[in-house]
Amino acid sequence: MHEISTHPVPEDFKANALVNDELYQQMYRASIEQPEQFWAEQANKFLDWRKPWTKVVEQDFHQGQVAWFVDGKINVTENCIDRHLADRANDTAIIWEGDNPNESQNISYQQLHDKVCQLANGLKQRGVNKGDRVCIYMPMIPEAAYAMLACARIGAVHSVVFGGFSPDALKDRIENADCQVVITADEGLRGGKAVPLKANVNIAVAQCPNVHTVITVERTGADIASNGDIDISYNALCETQSRRCDAEEMDSEDPLFILYTSGSTGKPKGVLHTTGGYLLGAAISHKYIFDYNPGEIYWCTADVGWITGHSYIVYGPLANGATTLMFEGVPTYPDASRCWQVIDKHQVNIFYTAPTALRALMAQGDQYLTTSSRQSLRLLGTVGEPINPEAWEWYHQEVGQSRCPIVDTWWQTETGSVLITPLPGANSLKPGSATRPFFGANPVLLDPDGNELEGAVSGNLAFKGAWPSQIRSVYGDHQRCIDTYYTTYPGYYTTGDGARRDEDGYYWITGRVDDVLNVSGHRMGTAEIESALVLQDAVAEAAVVGYPHDVKGQGIYCYVTLMTGYEWSEELMQQLRSDVAKEIGAIARPDIIQFAPGLPKTRSGKIMRRILRKIAADELDTLGDTSTLADPTVVDDLIDNRVIPK
Ligand code: WT7
Repeated sequence: MHEISTHPVPEDFKANALVNDELYQQMYRASIEQPEQFWAEQANKFLDWRKPWTKVVEQDFHQGQVAWFVDGKINVTENCIDRHLADRANDTAIIWEGDNPNESQNISYQQLHDKVCQLANGLKQRGVNKGDRVCIYMPMIPEAAYAMLACARIGAVHSVVFGGFSPDALKDRIENADCQVVITADEGLRGGKAVPLKANVNIAVAQCPNVHTVITVERTGADIASNGDIDISYNALCETQSRRCDAEEMDSEDPLFILYTSGSTGKPKGVLHTTGGYLLGAAISHKYIFDYNPGEIYWCTADVGWITGHSYIVYGPLANGATTLMFEGVPTYPDASRCWQVIDKHQVNIFYTAPTALRALMAQGDQYLTTSSRQSLRLLGTVGEPINPEAWEWYHQEVGQSRCPIVDTWWQTETGSVLITPLPGANSLKPGSATRPFFGANPVLLDPDGNELEGAVSGNLAFKGAWPSQIRSVYGDHQRCIDTYYTTYPGYYTTGDGARRDEDGYYWITGRVDDVLNVSGHRMGTAEIESALVLQDAVAEAAVVGYPHDVKGQGIYCYVTLMTGYEWSEELMQQLRSDVAKEIGAIARPDIIQFAPGLPKTRSGKIMRRILRKIAADELDTLGDTSTLADPTVVDDLIDNRVIPK
């Protein structure tokens, strides 16, 4: 491993930063030593409440119970929209940049208010009440944000499903949350190609009898089959509605949204987030981590289908009255200079993206950087997976011209907001390290027996004590929430990640310790891919592991055994790859499928994934002991026929 250089906070950045090292230390200590006092202050500073809370926090990790600002009353949209109208109704809330570089739009806070109220009234007209679930399956267009906020306006619970998911995956999520309304678009546009959203919805809702309304935005105007009575066009529903809609008074602990994420077992789980604590977590982290000052242009490249889009495109920035850029397209269309062109076009100050995008752009060559100045940039960020020091240095030197600090933000769908990160005015940066805990986050490293490890050491990353934007439940299955996050190490929230702490107290995330993959910053359960494979007639058994991939971080490597009567062939392999993509979505398409006569199993029948991971990574000298296998000879065949990634 080559030497990692430390980058001190640039002097001019430090001089103007919201939080310097001293303030970070002081606030961090207060947040851990007197959490109730700290969070009460922040909740008053960042949010407007209709009625104050009676208790700051209640927690019982053994029961997976967490409640913040108990009895407090609040509405998210009053905080994200209405309260900004007095001073800056005409300031831009959302800059929308289309897939087509000639298409963009500025939406003021007043316009945002009007659009959200009209849709909220439309939803009410279609019978949506407080507590009802609404599925949002949309491209990255302003209506996606309107839809989320319209739900929040009336107390409906949204469940955004990423537009890249298949009809089947969509159906599972609609069913699991019992959504009765779906908001979608005729088609999405990404990289010049149409994404058949409404067609997918039609397939999904054909199997969901409880869906009584499908609202469709006309994005491309394509001629899409209708579902009859349940269909209504977004425009037809909204244009006649009033631009005023009283915000529903919500309890701090009323659900705000459900967002599905993959785990090591079973089907994706619906992570449930609630109102007051979530919004506070999103707002305070957005403000301090991105050192956000009023008037600045902030761009997070995520999709609203993921938690990053929820917290750092919509809720956090809008709560802070920021200007948030929403991008419909992809970083490589029309070519690999697109992000840098958009930064110049809209004078973006803060840019937040994923390492996988940076690695892909870096691989295309530096010539794509020469057509933009990027002088407006002040701060850069990354999220979703560890960033390798090479990509970090490229981002820092080439994209940010060595001028902009980089915040490497660690968090999860379940944490709701960032928990480990540098604060750009406070911490020296070490490329590849997520750095230090954010306010209120108390990370520990545990050994396998659950003992807290001290000093510079590696272990299982867990958190002690509650934070406001923490997961409240797995929708419809609280026991699963307890089992997944609070049982392995009683008394702690378990992340599923491994981490190392260095001598300066910096955290380095080493990756998942469970059977969860991180493919291009997307979380994938190996179990889900295995289920999709064994659904196919040809497949008897499947085992899926990750392997190091230059651009995607991890690639998907599958071992399958075939049913008798099936022969290995290139066509069959390609067929299985597309079957998985069809079953789950393109992000789950396997990179490699190896046909195996048998899988390495213990005598009790458990697949030894450690061995499969080593073979996939071509690390044969550290294969370890294979003598405990029921049939050690299967390993030789797996090795002989392994596919070495190009
Ligand atoms: C998993 C959570 C919420 C961010 C988007 C992904 C990995 C996330 C980092 C980082 C190293 C990271 C972890 C985590 N991860 N950020 N900065 N450095 N790893 O959310 O889909 O819930 O996935 O992403 O493994 O557990 P998610």
